[in-house]
Amino acid sequence: MRIRILGSAAGGGFPQWNCNCDNCRGVREGSIAAKPRNQSSIAISANNEDWVLFNASPDIRAQIESFPALQPARAHRDTAIAAILLVDAQIDHTTGLLLLREHTKPWDVYCTAAVKEDLTTGFPIFNILEHFRGVNWHPVATDETPFTMPQAAGIEFTAVPLKSEAPPYSPHRHNTVPGDNIGVRVRDLSTGKNLFYAPGLGEIDEHIEHYMRDADCVLVDGTLWTDDEMIRGGFSNKRGIDMGHLDQSGDGGIVERLRRLDRPRKVLIHINNTNPILNEQSAQRQLLHDAGIEVAEDGMEITL
Ligand code: MLT
Ligand code: MN
Ligand code: ZN
Repeated sequence: MRIRILGSAAGGGFPQWNCNCDNCRGVREGSIAAKPRNQSSIAISANNEDWVLFNASPDIRAQIESFPALQPARAHRDTAIAAILLVDAQIDHTTGLLLLREHTKPWDVYCTAAVKEDLTTGFPIFNILEHFRGVNWHPVATDETPFTMPQAAGIEFTAVPLKSEAPPYSPHRHNTVPGDNIGVRVRDLSTGKNLFYAPGLGEIDEHIEHYMRDADCVLVDGTLWTDDEMIRGGFSNKRGIDMGHLDQSGDGGIVERLRRLDRPRKVLIHINNTNPILNEQSAQRQLLHDAGIEVAEDGMEITL
């Protein structure tokens, strides 16, 4: 199973269009050792031919151009994206659907009922796409029953409901339901190996930890180094925890939790532009390195 990182940044990307934080300014000026990053998305294939797109970011056009395997030339209009799975209804994970409107048939989109509700009400992308070729919605259950997709041979998926936040425009914003946000275990049916992918992880309870312990690779929430990073920097009034993102450095934070896991390869993804780990020469990056934790970058591939 081939896992391609198409976008390793959180919403806003890196650099973010209006941001002058040390990282965004530094990467623009070339004065820090850091790589620009597109917004959160990965693609997975078990047969090198049919790819499942996990989240459709606003950067999808550049992401497809950066990875020719997604653009075969078997017909006048063609794509190797066989299906799309959405882990939530956030802007950074769904807006790309609008940019994929020229598809020649309805998109096979897999998401929970909660995400579908948001995408037909507060952020009605599915309704808009009905004016093009439409969406063939496949409900993803939240009872953790493994499922397969006829569009993508050789891969088994398990959706794991996460404690997180519904998006600001969700009709159930203040009444979160299971399925607002999922992690996904992705298993290659021939090698038996599995990835646990969760770009938004608000809490790691025993149940989630079990999935992480059992994985060959965890590709998880790298949004913020400290919970109040955006407040202290004067960039936003939101804490990580308000947005469903557990920080890395705090007590019980992601780094501490990952240290406990012996088995999986550990990779952080969905990194916010204010996070000091983006600077390859930072002390925080060194700390991750010493803990055996990698930082995803665009174009990176993981094979399981
Ligand atoms: C998030 O993951 O919290 C969202 O992507 C934030 C955003 O895009 O505004
Ligand atoms: Mn996000
Ligand atoms: Zn910034």
